[in-house]
Amino acid sequence: MFVSAIIAAAGSGTRLGTATPKQMLDIGGRPMLAHSLSTFLRHARISEVILAMPPGSTVPALAGIDPGKLAAVAIASGGARRQDSVANAFDLVHPSADVVLIHDAARPFVSAALIDRTIDAAMTQGAAIAALQSRDTVKLVADGVIHETIPRDSVYLAQTPQGFRREVLAAAVAQGRNGIEATDEAGLAEHAGYHVHVVEGDPANVKITTRDDLDAARQRLGSTERVGTGYDLHRLVEGRPLVLGGVTLAFDRGQLAHSDGDVACHAATDAILGAACLGDIGRHFPDTDARWKDADSVELLREAARLVGEQGYEVGNLDITVILERPKIKDAIDGMRARLAGAAGVDISRVSIKGKTNEGMDAIGRGEAIAAHAVALLRRRA
Ligand code: CTP
Ligand code: MG
Repeated sequence: MFVSAIIAAAGSGTRLGTATPKQMLDIGGRPMLAHSLSTFLRHARISEVILAMPPGSTVPALAGIDPGKLAAVAIASGGARRQDSVANAFDLVHPSADVVLIHDAARPFVSAALIDRTIDAAMTQGAAIAALQSRDTVKLVADGVIHETIPRDSVYLAQTPQGFRREVLAAAVAQGRNGIEATDEAGLAEHAGYHVHVVEGDPANVKITTRDDLDAARQRLGSTERVGTGYDLHRLVEGRPLVLGGVTLAFDRGQLAHSDGDVACHAATDAILGAACLGDIGRHFPDTDARWKDADSVELLREAARLVGEQGYEVGNLDITVILERPKIKDAIDGMRARLAGAAGVDISRVSIKGKTNEGMDAIGRGEAIAAHAVALLRRRA
């Protein structure tokens, strides 16, 4: 199934009243837009993302989003009204799309589960939106006087995503182009005669409209970055391969270790675990466990990244300093960076490896040992 996602991010945020459009305001260390965009880009069932931005915009560099994935995002020029922005984005939807989702960049907390529910319902029913049943009693009021009390179990508050089979959305967009005005695509689809189904929305999936909403969102995310350090040292002995950053280097000695003794991987793994307060490498990969004997330490790093992922964090960047007297590692560094980046789930531009000697001093200087220091930054996922 081919699922396209349109993210509407071309508004000016007049009710919030900031000079910067609200979707570019920082919440939790990244622009509001980056939160929902990264959720959609990470979602396994989303085949393409189209972003409606103010005319003339390019995709902003958004921290925490893989630049490769960002480069694949198509940009549609926003229109005067939300429905115009969505209509322009719809023109860029891939012809083989089965389902198209529309989401507001002003809802940064959309979850993968809500996206799943909306895709499933859109596919089976043709049109479906996320909506929340009203928790409050609803009154119809005019001139400060209640005219009618509406049973709250029949009142739903619309959210996004809103999902449609492509032909249904085509009909809805055509209604809009024929002069029908609506604040969401469900309204246009209803007008086109379709039954729009409701899937259970998410109370956390709030829309940021006012200053209070923005403050609450910022408070909710709190501090979003964590930093950790790691250190490792191994003796160098004859008859063992020298493995560093997942790469085997030509040398007459290698690490004496239960595993491959890859100090760059071990220091980075400890830094990642440390940043999330998950203990250290010895706790997760004890050398009494046969599973890790002669293990490729890149797998330890991958497991550490997975463990912090379970806690809601992703690796922001890694910086590693390796201290060894010989051999020179300069030519192998990019290969190491690529392996570590792959395991940590980040772009290579986020992994740095630097080599140092100890100027002939101490055990490292005499070539009897190799050591590494690492710093890891983790970022809370949107
Ligand atoms: N939007 C859009 N194009 C427009 C207007 C709105 O893509 N011409 C997008 C907004 O960027 C937002 C979503 O539609 O992500 C929901 O709209 P809303 O919350 O109303 O945002 P704004 O229109 O920017 O805010 P305001 O109504 O306060 O001006
Ligand atoms: Mg608006």
